[in-house]
Amino acid sequence: MLGLKSTLKALVCSALLFASVSAQASVPTLPNVGVSAEFPNAIAGLTPDLISGDANDIKVTFRNSGKTDLKVNLIVGTVVEPTDFNTVIRNLTAYKYSTTLKAEATLVHTYTIKMEHPSREVGLTLMADLMDSSKNHFPVVVYNSTVNFTEPAQSWIDVQLIFLYVLIAGIFVAIGMFIKDAMAPEAKTTKKKTPAMTPEEREAALEKMKVLDEDWIPEHHKKSPRATKRR
Ligand SMILES: *[C@@H]1O[C@H](CO)[C@@H](O)[C@H](O)[C@H]1NC(C)=O
Ligand SMILES: *[C@@H]1O[C@H](CO)[C@@H](O)[C@H](O)[C@H]1NC(C)=O
Ligand SMILES: *[C@@H]1O[C@H](CO)[C@@H](O)[C@H](O)[C@H]1NC(C)=O
Repeated sequence: MLGLKSTLKALVCSALLFASVSAQASVPTLPNVGVSAEFPNAIAGLTPDLISGDANDIKVTFRNSGKTDLKVNLIVGTVVEPTDFNTVIRNLTAYKYSTTLKAEATLVHTYTIKMEHPSREVGLTLMADLMDSSKNHFPVVVYNSTVNFTEPAQSWIDVQLIFLYVLIAGIFVAIGMFIKDAMAPEAKTTKKKTPAMTPEEREAALEKMKVLDEDWIPEHHKKSPRATKRR
């Protein structure tokens, strides 16, 4: 019994020791890596722009000034509230690269951000996960600052053009309806006026009257050649 107890004690002790050792191992010193992010069309000193809905390719440069090779595992990003970087607006796609960042070398990766967002300032945090040969992970901050979301210029012009087309189409429709309205009553009035007889109708009617009139006149008194023809 006593033997078992001491064995257990030794086991627990060694387990604790192992745990503390592995805990120490999991907090290795940060490798000598410099990271920079380059935004498309960025102007030095100004907040970089991200075009809403477009694929914004961010050039991420890793510089390894250390003596050992590293692995660039992935880059992840979050869009956050500029006033509170803990308030996440969107978790961006994690890009897995698994490329080797050689000792005393530079490696460039592209991280693409494509999301719709109204034009305003937001916070952006980009983190890279680096790994050494012992599979220790090193989270490295790629970018942690503000960016400005802007509407794509092209689509704004398109929207303006569409509005212009709709406006022009509306004007034409209005003109068309006005012309139709202006024509319709005229057509009606001319139709109403027609029973008042065209010259031909008048003549025909008069002729009929003449014929009727002549009916009681004795035969030999009739002179109209038309009336005789009718008989
Ligand atoms: C970014 O947006 C903020 C707020 O809308 C504005 O004050 C600032 O001028 C913008 N910066 C750039 C570079 O467009
Ligand atoms: C972002 O991801 C974290 C976990 O990784 C999650 O807790 C959070 O709800 C996500 N936020 C959004 C806005 O999707
Ligand atoms: C990013 O910046 C914010 C505000 O400046 C800070 O609170 C946060 O801890 C930073 N995050 C990282 C990963 O450095």
